[in-house]
Amino acid sequence: MTVLFPVELATLEAELVTGLAAVEDRLRAEISSDYELADITARHLVEAGGKRFRPLLVLLAAQFGDPTSEGIIPAAVVVELTHLATLYHDDVMDEATVRRGAQSANSRWGNTVAILSGDFLFARSSKLLADLGPEAVRVQAETFERLVIGQLRESVGPQNGEDPVVHHLEVLADKTGSLIAAAGRYGAMMSGVSAELTDKIADFGESIGIAFQLSDDLLDIESEVSGKTPGTDLREGIRTLPVLLALADDSTSDRLRDLLTRPLTDDSDHAEALAALRTHPAMDAAREVLEQWAQRARERLTGFPEGDAKAALTTLVDSVAHRTI
Ligand code: IPE
Ligand code: IPE
Ligand code: MG
Ligand code: MG
Repeated sequence: MTVLFPVELATLEAELVTGLAAVEDRLRAEISSDYELADITARHLVEAGGKRFRPLLVLLAAQFGDPTSEGIIPAAVVVELTHLATLYHDDVMDEATVRRGAQSANSRWGNTVAILSGDFLFARSSKLLADLGPEAVRVQAETFERLVIGQLRESVGPQNGEDPVVHHLEVLADKTGSLIAAAGRYGAMMSGVSAELTDKIADFGESIGIAFQLSDDLLDIESEVSGKTPGTDLREGIRTLPVLLALADDSTSDRLRDLLTRPLTDDSDHAEALAALRTHPAMDAAREVLEQWAQRARERLTGFPEGDAKAALTTLVDSVAHRTI
């Protein structure tokens, strides 16, 4: 995502660009290995690109304290490495073939290598984290647990009469909101922000994180340029919000219901479901829920010190709500 900050934020933007370049250098340094296969598979997705949304949030949160503090860049690298590791594993679970516009690791080297490459990245993330102190390690452990529970709950679906939409939003909070909240928390913690503001920044991260995943799930249906294969969720039978809302809509045809409630291995079934969903009113209804979470994130900024950093976070919410990539 290109974050186009307003002109008055040019000084901050220049600082963020410098910070992100430092993150990039450190990221590459932290994943290098003497064992060639680990080195190649770990570099594969780092070099393929990615938006670096979480490191950006670490840097922005650090603007509320001393943005030159030494733990900030390593913390941003820890978060991106954790994110990357989850992508290697997620693509195995989702049987995805494309990631960041490149072949997914599982498609290129098989599931075993992809899973172990994700583990290698977790290991490197933990090693770097150890230098940031026990509180930072605790945040990572709690985040990791939520991520895993989110992925587990997504894969088993709602149980024992759980409302599907409530369940889904809890899954998004756990699998995606948790790490984006941790990004905000780390930036604040490392730059010496008060405990009270640190918690608020983490809350902001959780809300913008849910909005981020909701917009990602809309893009999975509507976009051809995400760097991933469109319609992967539908193919895997993963019920994202537009699907849940279409299933809850009485006007949805029996044919579409059938297509939305099973994995779609057949290409023509898949194309039919994708086309029908793209024009279904559930898409607009899901966009409204996305806007509600974006609004919640904006409201979380109430009471933040006024200035460029707060203005940039507001711009960040807008860019997540109107994502195109
Ligand atoms: C992908 O995250 C997984 C989600 C939580 C939607 P990103 O959209 O941040 O992926 P990259 O890092 O830009 O590839
Ligand atoms: C996000 O889930 C992955 C994690 C948070 C681990 P998705 O499966 O929806 O993400 P994409 O679409 O593959 O990036
Ligand atoms: Mg996936
Ligand atoms: Mg997934």
